[in-house]
Amino acid sequence: MNNSELSALLKDMSLDEKIEQLIQLHGGFFGEVGTITGPAAEFKMTGDQPYRTGSVLGEAGAKRLRELQDKMTAAQPHHIPALFMADVIHGYKTAFPVPIAIGSSFNTELAEKIAEAAAKECSAAGVHVTFSPMVDVSRDARWGRCMESPGEDPYLNSEMAKAEVKGFQGDDVKKPGRVAACAKHFAAYGAPVAGRDYNVTEISEHTLYEDYLKPYRAAVEAGVKLVMTAFNTIDRKPCTTNKRLLRGILRDDMGFDGVVISDYNAVGETVIHGSSYDKRDAAVKALSAGCDIDMMSDCYLSGLRAAVQSGELDESLIDEAVMRVLKLKNDLGLFENPYKDGSEEAEREIIFSKEIQELGRKAAVETAVLLKNNGVLPLSISQKIAVVGELCDSPMIVGSWSIFADRSRTVTLKKALETLCPECDIKFFPSDNADEASEYAKGCDAVIVCVGENEEHTGESMSKADISLSEAHNRLVEAVSGVNKNVVTLVFGGRPLGIARADSLSAAVLEVWLPGTVGCLGIADILFGRENPSGRLSMSLPYCSGQLPITYAMYKTGRPKPENTGFIRYMSNYMDVPNRPLYSFGQGLGYSEIEYSAVRLDKDVIGRGESARASVTLKNLGERDQLEAVQLYIRDEKSSVVRPTRELKGFKKVLVPAGGEVEVGFIITERELEFYGEDMRLCAEPGDFKVFVTRDSLGENCATLRLEGG
Ligand code: GLC
Repeated sequence: MNNSELSALLKDMSLDEKIEQLIQLHGGFFGEVGTITGPAAEFKMTGDQPYRTGSVLGEAGAKRLRELQDKMTAAQPHHIPALFMADVIHGYKTAFPVPIAIGSSFNTELAEKIAEAAAKECSAAGVHVTFSPMVDVSRDARWGRCMESPGEDPYLNSEMAKAEVKGFQGDDVKKPGRVAACAKHFAAYGAPVAGRDYNVTEISEHTLYEDYLKPYRAAVEAGVKLVMTAFNTIDRKPCTTNKRLLRGILRDDMGFDGVVISDYNAVGETVIHGSSYDKRDAAVKALSAGCDIDMMSDCYLSGLRAAVQSGELDESLIDEAVMRVLKLKNDLGLFENPYKDGSEEAEREIIFSKEIQELGRKAAVETAVLLKNNGVLPLSISQKIAVVGELCDSPMIVGSWSIFADRSRTVTLKKALETLCPECDIKFFPSDNADEASEYAKGCDAVIVCVGENEEHTGESMSKADISLSEAHNRLVEAVSGVNKNVVTLVFGGRPLGIARADSLSAAVLEVWLPGTVGCLGIADILFGRENPSGRLSMSLPYCSGQLPITYAMYKTGRPKPENTGFIRYMSNYMDVPNRPLYSFGQGLGYSEIEYSAVRLDKDVIGRGESARASVTLKNLGERDQLEAVQLYIRDEKSSVVRPTRELKGFKKVLVPAGGEVEVGFIITERELEFYGEDMRLCAEPGDFKVFVTRDSLGENCATLRLEGG
């Protein structure tokens, strides 16, 4: 359809039809056509009204969705097709490593390929829209949803957001194998007070703009088709009815002209927050604020018609929202083909293809983070090895949002190791009870201990006040390390955990996150040296919960404590733990050591509109080719508002051949030097900047660049 045809369609629609286009219901509402039971009854829907709504939440499967689409287009007076939207967060039937792991790859090409593979699988199953990428910056591991985030850094999250939008949408969402993407949760959902999910946020305007808004802006610039509102408040107003946030920042400032959808019942929850008097007030406020679709509340259903008829709400606002929904359906080609790519044949051909499974394995290789290794890794197939811990054979390592994953296909670490080396002398003790295992461990060359969280301990609402490893897991590491010094600790989970105790007793520590359906094949390859780890922490790993929230991008304060000293009274530090995390953002090892040359600048001074190039030469001192995530950080030495001691402004993952050398460079423009000034406008102030090109956020390898000009 062209725009005039869409306008004619909108003009011909009744008010009821238009309101129905702005309602999204989950599959429970679609029983037998005409029978109103369960949730539909609570929503006071009549006859076949659910079938006249504009979109459906959380349903997938080509057969199911083709049949549902037939019923919905038949029931809708203008036969407008429905949108099918689902949470395909890090894979559909093939679950990839969770997003915090994907962020730890520091590889945007990999992130794009994963999104593209997920889009291929779910579009074959009839899905049109995915509620991904989740781009919320998260610096508080007490918050269970850091699992779904690329990590703590605005720049890394922005780059991952762009890559994933491109992976899902391609250059035209109408094309086969593509789906519309939805950036979420707008905004600053990752900053709940005390790390408690759904809690309010208390952040300054500068923190909102500098630390939390950038990844959404990046997703909008990448052409994301939808944005989802967050449950939390910003500046004491729920995001879903926050006009300044949705119309002022998202639409006017960022230029977003796509569909805004609420989170699940987030419109209705504004009544519970206490900022909407009732459902009708919530409906008026949300629609006026710019929220187009009401997901799973009955506020729009029950409140909009009366609000228009009373003159409280101008119908033109409804028309504006409906037009955005119709345009999205049109962009997807649904008026010509309401099923899009959904076909059982395509499902059989695409889902779990060998290519997608290999990508799942490779993704785990690039996302696992080797935090410590005294040389015990890689293991040898001739060694006698024990593998200990319930997680070594648990299928609950796929991720809590892998609602569509085929769990019968999950490869556990035990299965992976048995597959990789059937002849190896490996004995498994898939229990957290240390007694039997530690007896056997005495005679082993090395012991792999699996600790951390399974997928039931992370994700939405799974907030923890204490992120320490469980007592059982600490005891497991203590018992095994008491009889064998070659302990390789694997940390599963969707958040940074308090592993300081286990780390101190381990010869090697590998953060494996929740590696997905076939990810353990990649983990096994790393353990036995068939693959070389290259992941870098996308989120700082604290000593303990008391350090949270924490990020590498700390501020000096007026009393900075020198690093590597103990507690100093009257300085900004703790009496009981260091200021720095146990492992910092960007940290991670490979099996080959990479030596960095000094940072070279092609010019030490730049004027307005000019750029400089910072470069280093990397030298591989090892015997293995090494993927290296080279990171560019900038420190603004003096500025009109305080600035972090460094901020990530670039990264490149490059292959450094064994024994070889590679030159890596970054272009630095004013964009890399700018920040939000006192007037909240982006600016780059003249002065000196430290330019770091390093392997992680602790590296001191830097040069000084001066920006001149008023
Ligand atoms: C959930 C989540 C959101 C998800 C939505 C639909 O509550 O907050 O991320 O996309 O509901 O399932």
